[in-house]
Amino acid sequence: MKQLLVLNGPNLNLLGIRQPEFYGATTLADVEDLCRQTGAALGAEVTCFQSNHEGALIDQIHAARTTRDGIILNAGALTHTSIALMDAIQSVELPVVELHLSNIHARESFRHKSWIAPVAVGQICGFGPAGYDLAIRALLAHIEAAS
Ligand code: DQA
Repeated sequence: MKQLLVLNGPNLNLLGIRQPEFYGATTLADVEDLCRQTGAALGAEVTCFQSNHEGALIDQIHAARTTRDGIILNAGALTHTSIALMDAIQSVELPVVELHLSNIHARESFRHKSWIAPVAVGQICGFGPAGYDLAIRALLAHIEAAS
């Protein structure tokens, strides 16, 4: 059974409350349930983790190196600033799908830059919570094709 990690970064604990015009009404708990359900339907175990702290996210990426087959990462605003997260992904050599609920390319220009994109398998953005489902499918297909 494939093991996937779904990592959510800063402020995503406020999903459902925070700027619903961008992020919708679905809570983080609902998103995480959706991820586990999609994973189970596809024969994968999905573990979810959210933190507002860059170092905690980096620790999770390091721990995933020997325990997971791939990562789905919504790094929130750290996407646009964190070379440390980029380095962590490059260091563990696990496939990572970058995910955003909103279409970051249709928003402010500072959201167009992603430090995650160059080290990710691909990026999914703009589809709201359904993006997590798409990301799990895409990551599993990538892992399958690579094995
Ligand atoms: C986000 C987009 C980021 O620009 C923003 O800082 C977030 C959420 C998204 O899911 O659309 O916190 O990653």
